[in-house]
Amino acid sequence: MPADENLRPAAGLRWGVQDCVATVTLNRPERRNAMTPTMWRGLAEIGGKILADAGVRVVVIRSEGPSFCAGIDLRMFTPEGVPGEDRGPGLDDPGFGEHIRAYQEGYLWLRDDRIVSIAAVQGHAIGAGFQLALACDLRVLADNAGLCMKEPALGLVPDLTGTKPLVELVGRPRAIEMCLTARTVGAQEARELRLAEYVVPAADLGARVADLARELTSTDAAAARATKALLAAAAANTLEQQAAAERVAQATLLRSMRGDTGGRPPG
Ligand code: ACO
Repeated sequence: MPADENLRPAAGLRWGVQDCVATVTLNRPERRNAMTPTMWRGLAEIGGKILADAGVRVVVIRSEGPSFCAGIDLRMFTPEGVPGEDRGPGLDDPGFGEHIRAYQEGYLWLRDDRIVSIAAVQGHAIGAGFQLALACDLRVLADNAGLCMKEPALGLVPDLTGTKPLVELVGRPRAIEMCLTARTVGAQEARELRLAEYVVPAADLGARVADLARELTSTDAAAARATKALLAAAAANTLEQQAAAERVAQATLLRSMRGDTGGRPPG
């Protein structure tokens, strides 16, 4: 646990930075890290702070307890709700979509080019929790992990940014099959479907993720960030566009190494 870890008990989160690795921990194990709007807003706020720290290169999303995350706190759907949580605007309120957008912000920052994000997943990753793992660049799964897009079984769609990375990783037919059956995909199958970079014994999860974080920061920071930006853009570009982007990125990198900031302040 990083020495300077920040506690956000109301949001069920804690986070900290050690060396160039930020760790965000879902910390509501007694509810299997079920998520609330306060947690999603907390993730967005923590993300803003982490991205503002130019020293951070890797972000690890992990959780306490036997499950990575049991998805939305199902009490949100009961008349009593979750104590301390506001219920947000009603369905007919024009602000409804904006509310969801604010929750999505808790996920979207994990794909920022300045960082590489890793989800460390043990046990269940369900619904909003599976989408959190999908929001990360890389996933390391314990061999007891189970991934489930439960939303359609509950009369919902996955709306926390998970559908695009899921399709990109497993392809449209398998994404349809997984979501519309709402079945649980085990760790080995997840590896075969490219939903996991590594599957390790549960006891080794933390150590493997720490090793991976070290390996990812062994290369030059500026080159790593520029390369990630190129790779992130590749799928949407034509070959010609991507080749042009490579030329621009290389020139920018070499100029900045030379100390030429093109009139802009360095940094
Ligand atoms: N919301 C609120 N409370 C939850 C949730 C949840 N999503 N998941 C678990 N909990 C609570 C349980 O109610 C239980 O509370 P209690 O001790 O007061 O009875 C406690 O966490 C432990 O849960 P168990 O079911 O006893 O734990 P177990 O390890 O056996 O099972 C599992 C874990 C598989 C995650 C199970 O709890 C489960 O299926 N949860 C619901 C998952 C779900 O449908 N999520 C919504 C997905 S859709 C979306 O995210 C938009």
